[in-house]
Amino acid sequence: MRALTYHGSGDVRVDTVADPILHEPDDVILRVTATAICGSDLHLYHGKMPMVESGDILGHEFMGIVEEVGSEVTAVQPGDRVVIPFVIACGGCFFCQQELYAACETTNTGRGAILNKKAIAPGAALFGYSHLYGGIPGGQADYVRVPKGNVGPFKVPGQLADDKLLFLSDILPTAWQAVLNAEIKPGSSLAIYGAGPVGLLSAACARMLGAELIFMVDECGYRLDYARDAYGVIPINFAHNDDPAYSIIRQTAGKRGVDAAIDAVGFEAKGSTAETVLTALKLEGSSGKALRQSIAAVRRGGVVSVPGVYAGFVHGFLFGDAFDKGLTFRMGQTHVQRFLPELLEHIEAGRLNPDAIVTHRMALEDAARAYEIFDERQDRCRKVILVPGAASDANPGAPL
Ligand SMILES: NC(=O)c1ccc[n+]([C@@H]2O[C@H](COP(=O)([O-])OP(=O)(O)OC[C@H]3O[C@@H](n4cnc5c(N)ncnc54)[C@H](O)[C@@H]3O)[C@@H](O)[C@H]2O)c1
Ligand SMILES: [Zn+2]
Ligand SMILES: [Zn+2]
Repeated sequence: MRALTYHGSGDVRVDTVADPILHEPDDVILRVTATAICGSDLHLYHGKMPMVESGDILGHEFMGIVEEVGSEVTAVQPGDRVVIPFVIACGGCFFCQQELYAACETTNTGRGAILNKKAIAPGAALFGYSHLYGGIPGGQADYVRVPKGNVGPFKVPGQLADDKLLFLSDILPTAWQAVLNAEIKPGSSLAIYGAGPVGLLSAACARMLGAELIFMVDECGYRLDYARDAYGVIPINFAHNDDPAYSIIRQTAGKRGVDAAIDAVGFEAKGSTAETVLTALKLEGSSGKALRQSIAAVRRGGVVSVPGVYAGFVHGFLFGDAFDKGLTFRMGQTHVQRFLPELLEHIEAGRLNPDAIVTHRMALEDAARAYEIFDERQDRCRKVILVPGAASDANPGAPL
């Protein structure tokens, strides 16, 4: 079969690889009909995640048709149309019983990402996300093996297009968890750092929950323009404004700051030359730029919600400021499985239209070019969907 494989920083290729086969009695083999590239894939693409090996198949946002099931699979059968959560959870362990699926303590045979881990078991295995997270082949491929076939695959109705459903695999529940963590309710004020897919869908979810005032910070003008038109955010471009938090605070009642901030950027945040240099020298694990801005923009007693990925330590983390303001922090990988039924209802009712952020639909064959377009934000790219089996385009990447 054909699959997108990793060969080093900035080098991904569509190769012919062996078809996946059933390993465990509760495995499923899925024929992928649509898969997307995520901002999290860019961390791998930039060579920023350890333990990604040459030849590893990437991709954790995908859906398709069940092709084959193991002897113990009862939840789905061949022919079912399903979306696959990027988090692989067993459904039965201490954490899964509390619906903390991303913390599943039984699926990850890798080391996990905690530096100071002591005896703590790693969190859940993830598709296509390094050997730290289990080394499970990803879904940017014609076919993929899906472990925990009775827990992960989520059946979806036939009448809705793949584009509408695909983001249930990751970025829609991630945005949803981010706004729930941020305690958004009617009248809330919110600052979202990052106008990528996660930031945009966070704005969509926050609007649906009644947020009144939403600021969005990025340096990418066309993404900010889209967010202003689609979700009514107040855009702040940090290429022209070097202290967005200060501008945000001045526009809130009593100059108190916003009720909550969402950091939808993570550890590769731009804007601090010192941190960029320190990170390149491996003296720093993460850029804390978006996190510091989030802490600064929030009012006393407010919430900082962090869906953006962080790895290792962050210097210049103003814990004293967070203490003085009495802030609450919530963060982490998304407990995808928990949110799918309610999010599907919102999509079916037309209250959420996650497909609106898609700008590029390309053949899986053209996936290497698609990574370049998404990474370099060419062609006003917001989100790319890859279609396995589609014919390669002579002009790959022309926007929709
Ligand atoms: N928690 C989870 O389970 C989960 C799931 C999906 C994605 N993520 C993470 O969410 C983050 C966003 O994902 P995405 O797909 O939207 O990625 P993306 O790379 O498309 O978007 C990130 C955006 O942040 C902007 N940005 C960079 N530095 C900034 C700064 N200092 N201030 C404000 N904006 C800045 C970029 O210009 C870009 O538009 C990534 O870190 C990704 O790994 C986490
Ligand atoms: Zn993702
Ligand atoms: Zn579990």
